[in-house]
Amino acid sequence: MNETVNTQQGERPPILAAETLHKSFRTGSASVPVLTGIDVVFREGVCYTIQGVSGSGKTTLLHLLAGLEDPDTGQILYRNQDISRFSRKRLAAWRGRAIGLVFQAYHLLPELTALENVNLPAMLFGQRDPKPGWELLEAVGMTHRWQHRPWELSGGEQQRVAIARALRNDPEILMADEPTGNLDEETGLEVIDLLLDLQKSRGKTLVLATHDPRLAQKGDQQLVLTGGKLERVDPTSAASVPISGPPKHSLESRLEPESKTYL
Ligand SMILES: Nc1ncnc2c1ncn2[C@@H]1O[C@H](COP(=O)(O)OP(=O)(O)OP(=O)(O)O)[C@@H](O)[C@H]1O
Ligand SMILES: [Mg+2]
Repeated sequence: MNETVNTQQGERPPILAAETLHKSFRTGSASVPVLTGIDVVFREGVCYTIQGVSGSGKTTLLHLLAGLEDPDTGQILYRNQDISRFSRKRLAAWRGRAIGLVFQAYHLLPELTALENVNLPAMLFGQRDPKPGWELLEAVGMTHRWQHRPWELSGGEQQRVAIARALRNDPEILMADEPTGNLDEETGLEVIDLLLDLQKSRGKTLVLATHDPRLAQKGDQQLVLTGGKLERVDPTSAASVPISGPPKHSLESRLEPESKTYL
């Protein structure tokens, strides 16, 4: 891709970008490299799929992009602001508002009803109005189960509730990690179509990690994680093209004036 985070004058900086990300895990005395130089730019309203075999580092990459883990080197830029410079509190607030996460195993809280699960992200910011949660349950076709606890719901129903929860704070970015991994094929396709409908109708950026090529093909931009690097699939030739290249300007020179207040 080698689309840098440089912007034309007046153009909004990209919603999210990664620059020369490296991440290794230490097991015993060995260091296992997982990501070995990721450069990627995510734009508003676009669905990106990240395909890769098990162990290729999809979850690791999503965790770095969401600020859940730190890279060894490299930066994550949210509208040209380096998130590693956010305080712990600001990082948590940023993640809670800017990013909606959908996981393979749903991660709904068992003691809460479907509606309470959807409203939880807003309650963490002190908002107690249940109405937006109800509207989101409507959007995912789950109002008839609003009082059910997660263990009283099917896998597909739990994932619908989890998608509604991910949208509760109206985030700009949705990240979904194998969201159909625990579902049968038909239910999985329904859930993906719902996720894509909501992403498009609400103008969200979606980053969707999957090992399933059929799901990956649904992305506006299809990326493949292989050998620790991202490649872009060229839909016209089905070949993949490396996404790499040094950033053209130093990070400091590209920071928005506003972002400097958080440095
Ligand atoms: N906390 C950790 N400590 C050590 N190694 C880890 C850790 N987390 C991930 N790894 C290793 O990093 C590699 C990438 O893991 P990751 O979970 O990102 O892969 P993935 O592409 O999401 O795989 P899957 O499709 O099975 O979910 C794997 O080899 C894994 O064993
Ligand atoms: Mg994974």
